[in-house]
This record gives sequence, structure tokens and C-alpha cells, in this order.
Amino acid sequence: MPQWRQGLTKSLHKTRSVPESRYFQLATADEEGTPYCRTVVYRGLTEDNDLVVISDTRTGKYAQLCEQNKAQVCWYFAKTREQYRFSVTAHSVTTAHAPVLVRSHWERLSDAGKKQFLWGEPTTPRNDGAALSVTGSFDEVPAHFCVLLLNVTKVDYLNLRGSPQYRELHYLDGQGNWLSQSVVP
Ligand SMILES: Cc1cc2nc3c(=O)[nH]c(=O)nc-3n(C[C@H](O)[C@H](O)[C@H](O)COP(=O)(O)O)c2cc1C
Repeated sequence: MPQWRQGLTKSLHKTRSVPESRYFQLATADEEGTPYCRTVVYRGLTEDNDLVVISDTRTGKYAQLCEQNKAQVCWYFAKTREQYRFSVTAHSVTTAHAPVLVRSHWERLSDAGKKQFLWGEPTTPRNDGAALSVTGSFDEVPAHFCVLLLNVTKVDYLNLRGSPQYRELHYLDGQGNWLSQSVVP
């Protein structure tokens, strides 16, 4: 197991009582290089070192990741004062590509979570002030519901505890082995 993964497991364990520690920022860029950043919820880490996020194919991030699949995750654990910056390569799957995986994430959502995918097209204007209504069934995985698999290719870890602070870079050698290097922060 890569060293950074052991560290992340520990950070998640130490902050398990803090719901906000499951949120991280995902930065993407479009074809022209314009950056976009937003908060998403961490949904797990696969055996292949993919950070898992659920999303909607009708959002900007999906379009940006289709154009440019390199992205960055920035994750700060306030309780332990640790920052992880993950360079990632994204791969998106819908129920058409990976029905079992995608359905398992859909089924883990509460009804309130599912509703967020059934309110209509994101970013379309709401001019009449009317309440949004749900269209579709909770039993069916919407075609636009997607799982983003963010494969970690590089990690920049910073721990603010102590003086000097501790910074460590983790990267892959040409053979797929993870190497770690402590660096000047
Ligand atoms: C705490 C928090 C958690 C969020 N979690 C997710 C998430 O897991 N997936 C997601 O697509 N959007 C999530 N969002 C909404 C995104 O931040 C963003 O507003 C939305 O996905 C549209 O982004 P885009 O147009 O850049 O793709 C979350 C927002 C907040 C504030």
C-alpha cells in the first residue's frame, strides 16, 4: 500500500467525527485552460487508488473532465492540520458503462440525496419562483448520474503541526512503484 494511502486512512480515522473532513475541492480546467473549482464529497478509495466522487453528467465538471481528464484535488483536514493535494486522472462512468458500480452508489444515497439528481437540468433558469418538483423514480438510476474515478498519480502532503512544517512528495517511478521524498516546505 502506498505510504500516502496509509496516511490518508489515518487522517480520515482521526477526523471521523467531523463530517466536513469528507469534503474536498476538485479543480478542473476546460479546453482553453480556464480553471474551475468546487467542493465534492469523498465516497471512498478503490484498490487502484481512485478517489471516488458521485456527480451528474449535466454539470460543468463532467464536460471539463471529458475535455481534459487531468485534475487536482485539494483536501484539508482542519482537525489534524494536514493538506493533501492529489494530482489525478479522471475517468467517469454512468450506468451505461458500469451498471453494478453506479447502481451501488445510487442505492447508498438517501432519498434527499437522490432528489438532487431529479430536479431538472442544472443551471437552467428558475424564473417563476415555483418549488422544484422531482421527475423520475428513486428506484431507477438516472442516465445522468455518474461516478468519477479520480486516479491518484502524485501527492503533495503538508502537515502544519510543528515548526518547521512537514512536506512530503509522493510520486510514481516508471515501473508503477510509489516513491516518497521529504522536502523543504
Ligand atoms: C459540501 C458540498 C458537497 C458537495 N458535494 C458534491 C458532490 O459530491 N458531487 C457533486 O457533483 N457536487 C457536489 N457539490 C456541488 C458542487 O460543489 C457544485 O456546486 C456542483 O457540482 C456544480 O459544479 P460544476 O458546475 O462546477 O460541475 C457539493 C457542494 C458542497 C457545498
